[in-house]
Amino acid sequence: MIKLNIDGIDVEVEEGTTILEAARKVNINIPTLCFLKDINENGDCRMCIVEVEGRRGFTTSCIQKAEEGMVVRTNTEKVIDARRMVLDLTLSNHERECLTCVRNGNCELQKLAEDFGMTDILYNGERNKYEIDDKSPSIVRDFNKCVLCRRCVSTCKKVQGIGAIESANRGFASCISTAENHSLNDVNCTFCGQCIANCPVGALKEKDNTKEVWEKLKDKDTYVVAQTAPAVRVGIGEEFGMPIRK
Ligand code: SF4
Ligand code: SF4
Ligand code: FES
Repeated sequence: MIKLNIDGIDVEVEEGTTILEAARKVNINIPTLCFLKDINENGDCRMCIVEVEGRRGFTTSCIQKAEEGMVVRTNTEKVIDARRMVLDLTLSNHERECLTCVRNGNCELQKLAEDFGMTDILYNGERNKYEIDDKSPSIVRDFNKCVLCRRCVSTCKKVQGIGAIESANRGFASCISTAENHSLNDVNCTFCGQCIANCPVGALKEKDNTKEVWEKLKDKDTYVVAQTAPAVRVGIGEEFGMPIRK
């Protein structure tokens, strides 16, 4: 076991535990954006930075393992200011159409902006402009809202074992792409939707066919057959604690 001190609280954790997990153990909230336990632990976004006594600069708490005798500060003025700067830079290159976004009220970036009391965007420079990819029958990709957390890339690789998407380019041109930048419709994507489920913002969303269904329901010459996907039926069954039948 490892003993450390976080914000004046003594914590004991198993060797290999990150500072973030150690803090969560004693209900200290460190904000995160790119982190997704066991799936995306790359330390990319730097929202989770903390100060560690005796170390210069900031430490990325989602990847830094706790060490014996460590003294950690998660909420100093310096830490809060640096996190705010990370958030400001992220928002400066983000399509902020929250009211009409499918993730309004359920967006991790929106929640962070609220938690940090953001009422203005400090940096208003050049923005990336991406074409929306809606060619696939089920997934819409809008990278104007992407925060480059790479959760989708890791999910596609590690959860689905597909690898249909990848990080591309560097610096300001960094983006999430497919082989030769094809539409998701033209690569090996299976449209499982796992990447949508793990995207923290509205950059990935399901295609909504509700309007077409209503149109067909109104059409007296069309027989409408409704079908629930097997995965949805299984999901509902699990929620109600039903047994799995072979
Ligand atoms: S829908 Fe599934 S296969 Fe396609 S990119 Fe997302 S995670 Fe990968
Ligand atoms: S599409 Fe979503 S999950 Fe993928 S990198 Fe962008 S914000 Fe992250
Ligand atoms: S949450 Fe730790 S670097 Fe993104």
